[in-house]
Formats: sequence, C-alpha cells, structure tokens
Amino acid sequence: MSLRIGIVGCGDMGRKHAAAWAQAPGACLAALCDQDAQRAQDLARFYGTDAYLDWRDMLAQETLDVVSICVPCSHHHDIAVAAAERGCHVLCEKPMAMSLTQADAMIGAAEANQVQLAICHQYRSLPHYRAIKDLVASGRIGAPLYIRFMEAREVRPKLEMHRLSGNGGPVHDMCGHLFDLARFITGAEFGTISAQGAVFGRDKKRLQAVQDFGVDTAEILARMQHGHCLSIGLNWGLPEGFPGYSSAVIHGPQGLIYAIDSQEPDRFLGDPSPTLEIVVKDAKGRQHIPCPTGDNSPEACVLDLMRAIEHGHPLEFSAANGRAALAAILASLDAIHANGQGTDL
Ligand SMILES: NC(=O)c1ccc[n+]([C@@H]2O[C@H](COP(=O)([O-])OP(=O)(O)OC[C@H]3O[C@@H](n4cnc5c(N)ncnc54)[C@H](O)[C@@H]3O)[C@@H](O)[C@H]2O)c1
Repeated sequence: MSLRIGIVGCGDMGRKHAAAWAQAPGACLAALCDQDAQRAQDLARFYGTDAYLDWRDMLAQETLDVVSICVPCSHHHDIAVAAAERGCHVLCEKPMAMSLTQADAMIGAAEANQVQLAICHQYRSLPHYRAIKDLVASGRIGAPLYIRFMEAREVRPKLEMHRLSGNGGPVHDMCGHLFDLARFITGAEFGTISAQGAVFGRDKKRLQAVQDFGVDTAEILARMQHGHCLSIGLNWGLPEGFPGYSSAVIHGPQGLIYAIDSQEPDRFLGDPSPTLEIVVKDAKGRQHIPCPTGDNSPEACVLDLMRAIEHGHPLEFSAANGRAALAAILASLDAIHANGQGTDL
C-alpha cells in the first residue's frame, strides 16, 4: 500500500512534513501547494511532484490519501474540512484551529467521512519529554505535580506568529504545545485556568506591519485533575536579537525533574541537542540522565497517522488532544481579556 500525500504550505513546517513523508515507508509525495509560486515550485521540483498555487485545485485535480496542512492557523479549518470531504486523511499543524467551533467542525467532517484527523503536537515525541513522563510515572518525585514551563524569545521572525488573523498571536501559537505536554506528563485534564497577559512586541521594528497583535506575553495558571498544577510563562516580545531562554521544571513533593542542555543553557527545549540531560533532584541527591537527541520534525506524527490508517491504531497525536490544547489556549485568552491587559492597582 502506498499512500499518496499532498501538502499545503511549503514554508518551514511544509518542508519538514515533506521530508518526513518522503522518508516514510509506504507513502509517496504526490502534490505540493503554496500560494507563493516560487516556494511551491522549488519544493515540487526537489521532490518531483506537481505544484499548485491553490489548495482547492490540488484537492480537485489530485487523488490523494492524506493532506498535510502547514499554513497559518486561520486556514486550518477550511482546508481540513474540504480534505476530509474528499475522503482524505488529515495531518494538521498546531494550533488546531482558531475556535472550538472550527475544531468541532473538523472533527465532525473527519468522522462523517471516516478519515483520520491528526494534530501535530510533536513535542510529546521528544526523548526528553518521554523521559520526564517515565520518571514521573515511576513515582520518584511524588505527586501532585507543579509543572513550570517558561519560554522567552525575541519577537518572532514571522508576522503571522504575532497576528490575531494568522496564528492567533503567540499565546495561541505556542502554548498549545505546553498544554499538551502537561496532559501528556500527568495524564490529567485541565480545570480552572487563570491568566494575565500583555503585548510587548507592539513597538518593535520587525513587527511594524502587524496591525492586529495577539497577546505575546502571559502568565497562565491552570489547575488540573488530581491536584496537579501547570504554570506557563511566555514572552515572545523580547527585543530583536535578544537570546531568550526556555525551561521546563517538574516539581513534586519529593523532588524536581528538569531538562538542561549542559553546553548551551539558553537552548530551546524543542531543539535537538546531543548534550541534553534530564536532572532529577531528590532526597538521594542529584542524578544526571543523558537524553538521546530528538528533533522536532513531524516524523512521529506521520508514522502515528500511518499506523492509524493502515492498522486502525488509535492516534496519539489525536484531534481530541489537539482540541484539549486549543480549549486551554482559548480559556487562557478569555481570562487575559477578562482581566484586562495591565490594569493599575
Ligand atoms: N509543530 C510545530 O512545532 C510547529 C512549529 C512551527 C510552526 N508550526 C505551525 O505550522 C504552520 C505553518 O507554520 P510555518 O512556520 O511553516 O510558516 P511559514 O510561514 O514558514 O510557511 C507557511 C506557508 O504557507 C503558505 N500559505 C499561507 N496561506 C496559504 C494558503 N491559503 N494556501 C497556500 N499556501 C499558503 C505561505 O506562503 C508559506 O509559504 C502554522 O500553523 C504554525 O503554527 C508548527
């Protein structure tokens, strides 16, 4: 069986999806689409496929088994629903959609047409997060957990990452990965979410063309089942060129687990590194566990979707997981807007 794959969006993630599908046994790239003709043609030439400027033409003219969606979030719903209605399985980049109404329509279209819908929250496939999950499950630091993620970066290079009309702004764009990881590590669902937020990127030169800024800086506190708690700090509004940092610390009643890069402490935890380590600190002392290099390609999502299509395995990178992450994002943004952005004491 060889699955025929079409990809919409030939930017950074589109290229990663193309590489992952090209290497997957039992899949063949059939068509690539980007509204930027040069991008579509360059990638199509590289893989020897057809190139399209409009995804509607691609769906109409090609016989595809799977469509990978790698365009800004504001287009995910329309493409996913149309692909499902043509009988295509869908691998959609995160964030799943702009709203829960859209997400539910995507799930409904997949169910009605008996196709799989996967959402690319691939962080849960990274070796250091799998190692953290296993350590937590061993009971070594006890429970409940207080999970703290911090992501601080210079204003992002792509305007769509800051636009409400693109990926919904940085909270919408990034925090879904972190909500998904918290569910992955704890196995628990979210309860109440509170948050404060701000826009730090507004006066930055790189973002001059942005009219509709999404919230780029936030403190989010989510209560979870079984007494767990997730705290997210996000700042995607630092000045251009600022080094930033990223951290993940899992606090338990008997100790801490965190990931560090022994060579580059500022490294972002989604990036591959041969020197990544998991540190466990508990009553026995401090243990460093080297962690295999992982990279954040969508390969795990591609293989997961193929197993679901070919053998009926339940998806790990499921639409239900994508929807749960989206619900937490939207609850955070609701809380931020209800609190106002920087109300005086
Ligand atoms: N899973 C992850 O870790 C991860 C990382 C980065 C981005 N993403 C997600 O991937 C998606 C794409 O992000 P990216 O970084 O590749 O962006 P990008 O800007 O590099 O690429 C997007 C491409 O989509 C094209 N495009 C936009 N609208 C289109 C349309 N209607 N029809 C056809 N082509 C269209 C653009 O021309 C561009 O080439 C977003 O949803 C983003 O949130 C996920």
